[in-house]
Amino acid sequence: MKKGFVFDLDGVITDTAKYHYLAWKDLADSIGIEIDLKFNEQLKGIDRMTSLERILIHGGKADTYTAEEKDALALQKNTHYVELLQDLTPEDLLPGVKEFLEEAQTKDVPCAIASASKNAPFILEKLGVKNAFEAIVDPATLKKGKPDPEIFVRAAEAINITPEEAVGFEDAQAGLDGIKAANMYAVGVYSGEELHGADLIVNKLTDISVDELIQK
Ligand code: BG6
Ligand code: MG
Repeated sequence: MKKGFVFDLDGVITDTAKYHYLAWKDLADSIGIEIDLKFNEQLKGIDRMTSLERILIHGGKADTYTAEEKDALALQKNTHYVELLQDLTPEDLLPGVKEFLEEAQTKDVPCAIASASKNAPFILEKLGVKNAFEAIVDPATLKKGKPDPEIFVRAAEAINITPEEAVGFEDAQAGLDGIKAANMYAVGVYSGEELHGADLIVNKLTDISVDELIQK
């Protein structure tokens, strides 16, 4: 029996993954680096500075910028990203998310957020579902990002369950690897790219219910 749910945010709760891509593409363009959707898969679930470093390596500019310049580039991306988030509303929840969270609340199954995004609290507020989560792990406090299991272990701890008692949801390979490394049951939310190692793959949260998952 499972006792709680741990959710990634971007690409699972809402489709902000597309805004991350737009903002990174724009930033990369501005420094003469081209990225495409295929490359973008390597950025999903990965924190802001590591994403920037991957883009710089991809463009052959790993040693071009000082730490201060890299901070400024990451800030430029985030400023654009936050602009793109301004019009988010509860309508932007992915299909089935609202109903799933309501069912979990009704059945007293605690939910937590394990997202690499420092914008997570703001996004959840905009989507009107912040109160559906008993805990949001602060990614600034992590020693290692996904695919390390730390964020998932911390999320389970925050809702007073063991990782083995948790079901984790992810749209990114790095996240799924982290969920499995934490010994959780892994639900992969398919977003167009192949996912490996999930215990279950769904297209949308409408495909599964809280009852079905807690039996796992
Ligand atoms: C993850 C996204 O959820 O958060 C990544 O999948 C993103 O694409 C990361 O880089 C960090 O987000 P933020 O909002 O702190 O820049
Ligand atoms: Mg994601």
